[in-house]
Amino acid sequence: MDLDVLFTPSCVGELDIRGWRCAVVDVLRATSTMVTALASGAAAVYPCVAIAEAKEGVAGYSRDSGLLGGEERGEMIPGFDLGNSPLEYLDGRVVGGKAIFSYTTNGTGAIRVAHGGSGVPVYVASLLNLSAVASAMLEDAGASPPRGLAVICAGRYGRPCPEDIFCAGLIVEKLAGVSGERGERPHLRDGAQIAAGLAAAGESHSLDVLTSSEHGRFLESIGFAEDLKFASRVDEYPIAPVFDGERVVLGRLDA
Ligand code: MLT
Repeated sequence: MDLDVLFTPSCVGELDIRGWRCAVVDVLRATSTMVTALASGAAAVYPCVAIAEAKEGVAGYSRDSGLLGGEERGEMIPGFDLGNSPLEYLDGRVVGGKAIFSYTTNGTGAIRVAHGGSGVPVYVASLLNLSAVASAMLEDAGASPPRGLAVICAGRYGRPCPEDIFCAGLIVEKLAGVSGERGERPHLRDGAQIAAGLAAAGESHSLDVLTSSEHGRFLESIGFAEDLKFASRVDEYPIAPVFDGERVVLGRLDA
């Protein structure tokens, strides 16, 4: 079985991933924030590809059941309830039971592209939940073997970013390690090999990887240094959220 890492969503168009089991990563910060929101009790996150789409979506909800969250140039969007800092989504009194309509520059679109390309539900991954996602992907692959496995990076303005590839590499290590023990070692395609190399180089230095990246430095420059510290935590949450084509929820791919 092939295992690959796609460095940007545009790579989805170049590789036929129909029927592949995929996870999407946007460490800074979209997927880290979605994972945190769901771990804090949010009912669902709706990844939107436009601010107008998010506003339309939340219109069907009362103030007690729906929230607008997201960013433009790293800052909260005027008129939204929350920005895109994972720290804003830690409080269950704020997000508990709520449907969150989220728009971000790269991450929300990447989730939609990944689902469009694979045609099946995709996992939402970050450093915060990488082992849970790797285990869920392997379990699914054991139950009904897909054509391949892939981690799709959101990147930054269409370009690769090290923090996403680093996280993808750690997931590749988990997938290859566990399936290797079972004698089913996947075939690591070039993207997976490059990502695994970056992961090996930066292992246990996740914060350094985030603070040395362009987006990490940008976020620090506008006052979000604490977001990098939080998003750099590995396996903070044992959850594997799934985007089913409409919303991101906690649950099984095959549910
Ligand atoms: C993105 O989607 O580009 C990021 O999540 C933006 C951010 O939160 O800084």
